[in-house]
Amino acid sequence: MEKRKRRDPHHSWAEPFKIKMVELLKMTTPAQRKKTIEEAGFNTFLLKSRDVYIDLLTDSGTNAMSDRQWAGLMMGDEAYAGSENFYHLEATVRKYYGYKYVVPTHQGRGAENLLSRITIKPGDVVPGNMYFTTTRLHQELAGGTFYDVIIDEAHDPASLHPFKGDIDIAKLEALVKKFGAKKIPYICVATTVNMAGGQPISMKNLKEVRKFTSKHGIKIFLDMTRVAENAWFIKTREHGYADKSVAAIVKEICSLTDGATFSAKKDALVNIGGFFAVNDKKLYDEASNLCVVYEGLHTYGGLAGRDMEAMAIGIVESLTDDHMKARIGQVIYLGEKLMDAGIPIVRPIGGHGIFLDAKAFLPHIKQDNFPAQTLAAEIYIDSGVRSMERGIVSAGRDKNTGKHNYPKLELVRLTLPRRVYTQAHMDVIAESIECVHDRRKKVRGLKMVYEPKYLRFFQARFKRA
Ligand code: F0G
Repeated sequence: MEKRKRRDPHHSWAEPFKIKMVELLKMTTPAQRKKTIEEAGFNTFLLKSRDVYIDLLTDSGTNAMSDRQWAGLMMGDEAYAGSENFYHLEATVRKYYGYKYVVPTHQGRGAENLLSRITIKPGDVVPGNMYFTTTRLHQELAGGTFYDVIIDEAHDPASLHPFKGDIDIAKLEALVKKFGAKKIPYICVATTVNMAGGQPISMKNLKEVRKFTSKHGIKIFLDMTRVAENAWFIKTREHGYADKSVAAIVKEICSLTDGATFSAKKDALVNIGGFFAVNDKKLYDEASNLCVVYEGLHTYGGLAGRDMEAMAIGIVESLTDDHMKARIGQVIYLGEKLMDAGIPIVRPIGGHGIFLDAKAFLPHIKQDNFPAQTLAAEIYIDSGVRSMERGIVSAGRDKNTGKHNYPKLELVRLTLPRRVYTQAHMDVIAESIECVHDRRKKVRGLKMVYEPKYLRFFQARFKRA
């Protein structure tokens, strides 16, 4: 008999849960998918979910809730004002993140709207470690201009820098010199930088940013959407953190900032929700007042009581080491499989998904013909796996010149929902991408035939070039 190596359960990333309920999926044929993607204008955002086999469009709101979270839904207090679930959420935010005040919002961009409106004046400058689509748009709508201050390595998919989310203090300093600190209401610091490929910021760098901003009277607002995943990377990569828990590291990160916006649809393992959190009472008062205008009363912010309950429970579950080990373990499993097959991906492997380097995958397609948009469509046709463009389409147009922004990174994101797919699903995904890679030379690019005004990647339509 073949002798099998025993897997040490302490070293495996195997899931710390078992499955109680399943959702059946529809299988489709390549011929059906060819027709479907054409009808969807070669935009994976315009596909119907029922036509998708494995959905890696996003890790946002697509997580599987635990039995405890589902039980929490039954504890929803749907009072218009002063819901019990709000106080549970508030206590959880205070205990685990350490912020004094919290304003719930329907999702992350609701919080970004509040933050941008209460802090940014027309003509202001907002530095950040790479842009995020909705975050930058809210800054711009409030009259601000975003400046990227992430380290150069973040724009290089092959750089193995362990903390590509780090901020280049010299870039920040140059902005302060050029515009003056008074024009910079805050710096937006993102944890596991989404557009860079889910790359973390180090504690060391965050401490340096805190020191610098304190000296100049500039606030730090954290985009803490994937803060627990960032904490896992600090634990496993940064000197001095191996013995600290994810929860302790998260609290330390938050303690170095003045407040945060949060999309609970990621880390916090829920399908909807978010919040704005802050330590300054005056800013809290302004945010809770604006919340009434855009979201709903400040004790529900566009959410049902039951949603706030599920979020409060999800936050605690997201901050356990066992959960995070399996979460990131699955991402790494898929990434290593792809690397073994010679597929060009952003390295090091990030937190919430694998990012294919579409420029390297399809070098014959010019950026004007949308290589990442094309690759996402090809993967869908091959296997029904839905991914997302994170390249020139997502980057939009320059707000002054109206020309395309040409980002260095032209990526396809395979985002893994939390606690949803199995290891066998990961194998199918990797095999499908290998198949597309084998026939990559035959793939033709796209042209854009419809372009909406805001966040065009969501609704733009394409045809074969
Ligand atoms: N910040 C980051 C880093 C995000 O990734 C997102 C959403 C938001 C803010 C906005 O939050 O969607 O709740 O309004 N990212 C999703 C994604 C859409 O697929 O990456 P939201």
